[in-house]
Amino acid sequence: DLSPSQINGIVSHAHYLKQISLPWLSPQQRGAKVSKLRMPSQSLFSKTIALLFSKRSTRTRLSAETSAVLLGGKALFLGKDDIQLGVNESARDTARVIGGMCQGIFARVGEHSEIEELAQHSPVPVLNALSSLWHPTQVLADLLTLHEHASSFSHLKDNTPNHGLKHLPQLPSLRPLTIAYVGDSANVLHDMLVTYPRLGHTLRVASPDDPKYRPPQPVWDRVLKLGCDTGIWWGPDPREAVRGADVVVTDTWISMGQEAEKEERVKAFQGYQVTEALCREGGANDQWKFLHCLPRKEHEVDDEVCNNLPPFHIHSPRSSQVFYGPRSLVFPESDNRKWTIMAVFDLLFGKWDLSAADSAL
Ligand code: CP
Ligand code: NVA
Repeated sequence: DLSPSQINGIVSHAHYLKQISLPWLSPQQRGAKVSKLRMPSQSLFSKTIALLFSKRSTRTRLSAETSAVLLGGKALFLGKDDIQLGVNESARDTARVIGGMCQGIFARVGEHSEIEELAQHSPVPVLNALSSLWHPTQVLADLLTLHEHASSFSHLKDNTPNHGLKHLPQLPSLRPLTIAYVGDSANVLHDMLVTYPRLGHTLRVASPDDPKYRPPQPVWDRVLKLGCDTGIWWGPDPREAVRGADVVVTDTWISMGQEAEKEERVKAFQGYQVTEALCREGGANDQWKFLHCLPRKEHEVDDEVCNNLPPFHIHSPRSSQVFYGPRSLVFPESDNRKWTIMAVFDLLFGKWDLSAADSAL
């Protein structure tokens, strides 16, 4: 639902929040020196955000809970077995009741229609924490990560304003990238489809030649409505998809709720694993980087030597692995879920002012 300038504004604001919050983190987590302490805005002071999650989550839940603390508020986790929703109470009544006590709802649902129903009846703002069709907060973290690693991509230009805080490192600008996605057409990819082309990046996607593994009609309708289709190449050949790629992205082949289809899916996606060989043969850029939203399974990306490495040995000279190799940005990407969700909470739940996202630029 966000305009390109609002997306950029949120990413820029997330970078700012990350920099000013770093002094509160351990030296190991910090990774950058910031001379002055600044408090993040306490925009959630005396506010409670309901985390209405009907599916598991590690990153999204942690991001929401920890960033609400930094913004001076509280995130209240309401799992599917904790409340009456779905068993004794409708989404409509639940939305009204939560909205009478909390100032925002961050909801992870099954079918996308469930979050539409919540939004229709909630008196307070509703944000999507993942649905069958979309995962909008993931692409914000991916964007922040790509900006932070802009120097990995050539032709870097660096002219992003830095809120006038001269001691803070600036968020580098990104040149137009070629971003390849190899695998299942699921929620994470769908937000990439409606985001990257509007920001000037090219998306190249490979998925099996079967309608089941292509975007559902409502997703494609949105792609067309936003004029993103001209920035997307789509085909069945993963080698063709990674041609010229600066970034290669994948997601699990078995999303939450699809566990019963595991055997069929693993068979359908043979040949779609992201490997060094695939990207070399397909002609990805030498410096290509790897993104994955996590959690990952063993199928979709090569991690063949991970079991032989200590857990934080991510700069292995063994070039065959991708997931734990030097190309992988998966853990910085995971860290950035927090700062981007914090930015969204600050601007939308805290200030409830999208123009603040524009002016964060
Ligand atoms: N990437 C992501 O959404 O992870 P979680 O399911 O752990 O929240
Ligand atoms: N496509 C995955 C994303 C998990 C963050 C799923 O829906 O399970």
